Amino acid sequence: MNTTFLQACRGEKVAYTPVWLMRQAGRYLPEYQQVRAKVSFLGLCKTPELAAEVTIQPVDILGVDAAILFSDILVPLEPMGAALEFHESRGPVFPHPVRDEAAVSRLRVPEPEAELGFVMDTIRLLRRELAAKVPLIGFSGAPFTLATYLIEGGSSKSFLYTKKMMYTAPELYHKLLVKITDCTVRYLKAQAAAGAQALQIFDSWVGVLAPCDFAQFALPYVKTIIAELKKATDVPIIYFANNGATLVDLSVESGADVLGLDWRLPLDEAVRRVDGKVALQGNLDPLALLLPHARMEERIGRILRQAKGARGHIFNLGHGILPEIPPEQAKFMVEAVHRLSARKG
Ligand code: CP3
Repeated sequence: MNTTFLQACRGEKVAYTPVWLMRQAGRYLPEYQQVRAKVSFLGLCKTPELAAEVTIQPVDILGVDAAILFSDILVPLEPMGAALEFHESRGPVFPHPVRDEAAVSRLRVPEPEAELGFVMDTIRLLRRELAAKVPLIGFSGAPFTLATYLIEGGSSKSFLYTKKMMYTAPELYHKLLVKITDCTVRYLKAQAAAGAQALQIFDSWVGVLAPCDFAQFALPYVKTIIAELKKATDVPIIYFANNGATLVDLSVESGADVLGLDWRLPLDEAVRRVDGKVALQGNLDPLALLLPHARMEERIGRILRQAKGARGHIFNLGHGILPEIPPEQAKFMVEAVHRLSARKG
């Protein structure tokens, strides 16, 4: 197996910089579209053979150094008791937003093997199929990001109801976040036990918080998750705080082995700020995949140079790849990262 990705997570010497792409299994690939044409998005997540098939597609097509389980951060919220729908045009929708004491009390903490067994089955299947290829990353959403979906009832721009609960009903907010945290600890432990070789925690919307609110209303729950995981498993843990340039110093305290960074913060500045305490993952602007090859290479080369002093570096996009990206451009990026980072001798 190619273990370059795991070595970089642990800050070990690598022959070249490993690379994978957030949302690497998805609609930009015609091969994904073909599978997706036969089944709904949630149906795909819940059918281990199909979920495993689309997980492996980018490994074979792009040559990335890690696979990421095909699922969604919102999947574990369903067995918590939150009805979930995916609409083609609007994305995820929770028709019954969680905004009061009764709604929070109704949420349960599911038993992962019994109620999310399809995820663990997908992981077990993937470990067999990926044995000679690359490591498998499992994942979850971070409590703040998951809470925004439950409280807002879907995606949001202002996060009005989330902040309203934080500021006007902090005890209720805390009760909700504790439940989500509890669920996430069990869910990620089960993924590691099933065979996930690294775990990424996605905090996609945490960048809407002021640093003082991040410290009070988001980071403590991430810390709890990572501390609990560290008691049960030694798989590397990646914390991705999207739009988190102002949160990097605090994020180092999360206990994660690797911090994922979006493209807004130059990597050399991140290297200085984390001071060797964690490895770094990132951070090409996902739309820089539209650049002509020579200019994309310049951008990749710059990121590789900026990452020089890092404890470890895993190349990635700064957020998920978009459906509009031609797969050949993503393939070129992966090949260029490998070529430009190869250590000689
Ligand atoms: O990275 C991978 O290849 C693994 C699969 C994966 C998906 N979602 C598949 C998906 C992962 C890791 C996620 C995480 C996820 N889901 C996040 C965190 C990462 C991020 O982008 O910030 C978030 C916020 C979600 C919630 C979500 N899921 C939204 C907002 C949407 C709709 C918008 C969109 O991109 O379509 C989804 C749907 C979704 N999740 C799709 C895929 C492939 C598209 C569904 C389809 O096939 O129609």
